[in-house]
Amino acid sequence: MSSLLVTGGAGFIGSNFVRLALAETDSSITVLDSLTYAGFEASLVGLDPARFKLVRGSVCDHELVNELVAAHDAVVHFAAESHNDNSLNDPSPFIQTNLVGTYELLEAVRRHEKRYHHISTDEVYGDLELDDPDRFTEATPYNPSSPYSATKAGSDLLVRAWVRSFGVQATISNCSNNYGPFQHVEKFIPRQITNLVDGIRPKLYGAGLNVRDWIHVDDHNSAVLRILEAGRIGETYLIGADGELDNKRVIEMILELMGQPTDAYDHVNDRAGHDLRYAIDSTKLRDELGWLPRYRNFDSGLAATIAWYRENEAWWRPMKQATEAKYAKVGQ
Ligand code: NAD
Ligand code: DAU
Repeated sequence: MSSLLVTGGAGFIGSNFVRLALAETDSSITVLDSLTYAGFEASLVGLDPARFKLVRGSVCDHELVNELVAAHDAVVHFAAESHNDNSLNDPSPFIQTNLVGTYELLEAVRRHEKRYHHISTDEVYGDLELDDPDRFTEATPYNPSSPYSATKAGSDLLVRAWVRSFGVQATISNCSNNYGPFQHVEKFIPRQITNLVDGIRPKLYGAGLNVRDWIHVDDHNSAVLRILEAGRIGETYLIGADGELDNKRVIEMILELMGQPTDAYDHVNDRAGHDLRYAIDSTKLRDELGWLPRYRNFDSGLAATIAWYRENEAWWRPMKQATEAKYAKVGQ
């Protein structure tokens, strides 16, 4: 594909995707991003202007979406309101961006007969018990818990309906928790790293037994590139790297890597409706498309991420105070 429209490309995963796609393909890329509190031009500096352009605008803007989709070969749709805690405080932007925005893109790719890849999350499947031997597969029934995950589930179902009813050329991927550079400091791992830089004790929700299945952002994005290249139209692929860890253990690892005692953290209010465990079985992606994660060692990926936040304070400092003020209001 010679030209890609990447929505949400100024966010965490999208900006890392743009860098990977420019390095590993010949495509030119236009990012469509409304630069919300979670989108930053600073995440896209230094890219070749001959192959990269940023358009500031919303995926809910009918005219703009129509014009941009018509001008590109394919769309990769990352744009979303992405944070569960925010969706508990105010679900309304989640309904707009995640549902209405996806609808606008689907109608545009339908009109102009373009290839579409939909980025989604393992949270659409709800959660698992800690001792459940099963993991999520493409056949697991949808059972979302939060306003965020419900809107992501709804957007996936819109894609499936547009494939079946209108023959839209779409694929979907559902990935587990990403970590790596350029992630907003509202999220678990960067919040704790930047807290420690500021001399604040890390904050663990509830007892911290909740399990997340961590994957490096570059592994998520290499899988997306592979699906764009060889994925079967109409199919869903789960993306995961066998990275299950409970939150308590992750905080202890961060403390250890940052030279602090491993019990130097605080328990704070739990998240309402907090999903207990996510775990991905990515056999279909691996067997069908031959994809494998490159970052197999969470310890060294986490150490590199800590180093990145230490070296890039200018990137995260402007968002830190407002983020912590928001958490303080709800006792987190
Ligand atoms: P993020 O919050 O860091 O970035 C979202 C980006 O979307 C921002 O740049 C924001 O400005 C942009 N955006 C928001 N509303 C918009 C609108 N109306 N129009 C245009 N742009 C808009 O999120 P992220 O963590 O990079 O997540 C990206 C995608 O990946 C989301 O669809 C999310 O559901 C999915 N996902 C995330 C994870 C994870 O661990 N972070 C895991 C699986 C799937
Ligand atoms: O599973 C994929 C999902 O992963 C994505 O769809 C979401 O966009 C992404 O935000 C992420 O959702 P989580 O809610 O799992 O991520 P978060 O970083 O908010 O929290 C990870 C875990 O850490 C979760 O169990 C809540 C807990 N937590 C979070 C924060 C911010 C804490 O214990 N302390 C904290 O300070």
